[in-house]
Amino acid sequence: MKAARRLIIDTDPGQDDAVALLAALASPEELDILAITSVAGNVPLELTTKNCLALVELARRPEVPVYRGSIRPMVKKLVTAEYVHGPTGLDGSGLDDPELQAADGHAVDRMIDILMGAGDGEITVCTLGPLTNVGMAIAREPRVVPKIGELVMMGGGFFEGGNTTPAAEFNMFVDPHAAHIVFSSGVPIVMMPLDVTHKAFTDADRLRQFADLGTRAGASVAGMLDFYDRYDMEKFGAQGAPLHDPTVIAYLLAQELFSGKHVHVAIETSSPLTEGMTVVDWWGVTGMEPNALVMREIDADGFFDLLVERIGRL
Ligand code: RIB
Ligand code: CA
Repeated sequence: MKAARRLIIDTDPGQDDAVALLAALASPEELDILAITSVAGNVPLELTTKNCLALVELARRPEVPVYRGSIRPMVKKLVTAEYVHGPTGLDGSGLDDPELQAADGHAVDRMIDILMGAGDGEITVCTLGPLTNVGMAIAREPRVVPKIGELVMMGGGFFEGGNTTPAAEFNMFVDPHAAHIVFSSGVPIVMMPLDVTHKAFTDADRLRQFADLGTRAGASVAGMLDFYDRYDMEKFGAQGAPLHDPTVIAYLLAQELFSGKHVHVAIETSSPLTEGMTVVDWWGVTGMEPNALVMREIDADGFFDLLVERIGRL
């Protein structure tokens, strides 16, 4: 049995973050979660932190520490997405307020401590929200870069465009400056853009599979996705909503579900029209050194089967 991957998950729950976190918390043999770090994004930091704690409780994994992270992007004012996720960020979950408290210390400091205490390439960092915490950690302590074996992130889009502006996906739009720091740091990035997540829609049948689990976690996931679908149904029609963040955890558990290409990606930080755009050099026209494995294809049925099986373990 391969040793479990030592992992930090940075997140802004958000219903899709919740499914990703629950699938990760259900997989202790493959994923040794050293820390969950909250960041402001879908909803403000107090709520993303509370939501992380409620999900750790739902998964009955109270030993996994949750650290409170950045309350706002590095430069821009915070933009949130209650219009998608509801006022709590986890509308539909049916979860009570958590008993658990956040662990001591700021997420950026704890991220640096964990990384600096590890050997080169030993830690995987997964980001499911804006890159503020990781950008701050790299700016604070550049020596963390070689410690990160892989940074697997949900964000960006290219052939698929944006979902927050025509050019920018939400996580990149919220904090393009942090994203620029991360993408120019040399950290080995695996990028799950809208080009992949818009091929993984939670249709009625897939949603029913979670409900049919007959468990508290299954019912909570079904409730969250039913709420989360609402906004995107207007945009994508009866297909349901694209399930973005769980693609990151699915990559860790079953890389074969995805395919993509090593290319150069740069982040627009100054144009008011295209701020937050991930400029993906898919055809290699710039001659710039590739800095990310950009995924473009997904086995959507295999992806959902994996999620239902993992959530079913809780
Ligand atoms: O654009 C989708 C991303 O933004 C997802 O991570 C979702 O949770 C929001 O954070
Ligand atoms: Ca997210």
